[in-house]
Amino acid sequence: MAVNTQGNEGDEVIFDIMRESSIGHLSNLQAAKKRNCNMDLNLKGRKVLITGAGDGIGRAFAIEFAKMGAQVAGCARSQDRLTSLSKEIEGNGHLFYPTDLTKLEEVQTFHDKVMETLGGLDVLINNAGSILKLGGFFDVTDQDWQDSFNINLLSAVRLSRLFIPALKQSNTPRIINISSIAASRPGDMFPHYNAMKAALSNFTVSLAQTLAADKILVNSVSPGPVWTRSWQQEVDLASKDSDKNPNDIKEEIKTQIGQGVPLKRMGLPEDISGIVLFLASDNASWITGSNFTVDGGVTLSP
Ligand SMILES: NC(=O)c1ccc[n+]([C@@H]2O[C@H](COP(=O)([O-])OP(=O)(O)OC[C@H]3O[C@@H](n4cnc5c(N)ncnc54)[C@H](OP(=O)(O)O)[C@@H]3O)[C@@H](O)[C@H]2O)c1
Repeated sequence: MAVNTQGNEGDEVIFDIMRESSIGHLSNLQAAKKRNCNMDLNLKGRKVLITGAGDGIGRAFAIEFAKMGAQVAGCARSQDRLTSLSKEIEGNGHLFYPTDLTKLEEVQTFHDKVMETLGGLDVLINNAGSILKLGGFFDVTDQDWQDSFNINLLSAVRLSRLFIPALKQSNTPRIINISSIAASRPGDMFPHYNAMKAALSNFTVSLAQTLAADKILVNSVSPGPVWTRSWQQEVDLASKDSDKNPNDIKEEIKTQIGQGVPLKRMGLPEDISGIVLFLASDNASWITGSNFTVDGGVTLSP
């Protein structure tokens, strides 16, 4: 069932335990939210589609764009997460529709629903992505590689193809692909994910050139380690042969990863929103085919 928001001010906001813990320090989150709210990017009325809007980084995008007065369409597979988002989000006329982006029929249906509800599109954010299996080269099978291709690359290709006609009708058309620092700095773990993110960054540059004549700007954003539900797999793995409380293990992982970041903390989903809001705005009208790293200094690329 779709969630078509008609304003839920006053409704209780549902935060699950994982999300609360992902926030880390509430003051830090409030600072991130305040920072974004202070930017006047003139995004009111912009029609924005965000894949993977149910959790983590995509959810933060949905909330921030809605705060700016944008009309948001979002998808994820979990209806529950979309319902919870619809209760948290500001404004009216949004669409949250459960969709498995690896299934072509569902992608087509989502496209039709978006066009029916929003009546067009200005910004497509291909955010949904997943490591799927935490393992090294000898742990991942052909099927794991195929599954990674489907969600991390093909979903962005299909949505771009489907929405290009709508984007051509927009005065401020954008495609923003959420890649990863793993695209350019792969480690030995999850090579099936790293390679697909590299392909997504590469595809961004090809598509930017294809669509330049239509003034559709195509860019990618590459986050470093951001604490979201996606890190739960790491917690589960570390908890498997340990007597420690999983919450303690979670905090240990956060601290340990944070120590490896020059800015000494893992990112918050809200840390990624600023650049995406900017890329969607008129201020970014001469930027295409670029990648923006947001990683607290992990890659320190000149
Ligand atoms: N967190 C990080 O450290 C980090 C670092 C670099 C890059 N990134 C990238 O940033 C993006 C967001 O990551 P995140 O950490 O926010 O992930 P997340 O918390 O796991 O959220 C991913 C979202 O994508 C949805 N999704 C997953 N598979 C889907 C499918 N087949 N069809 C439709 N929706 C699907 C999930 O919802 P359902 O499960 O309900 O479908 C969820 O809403 C991803 O592309 C990720 O690769 C993240």
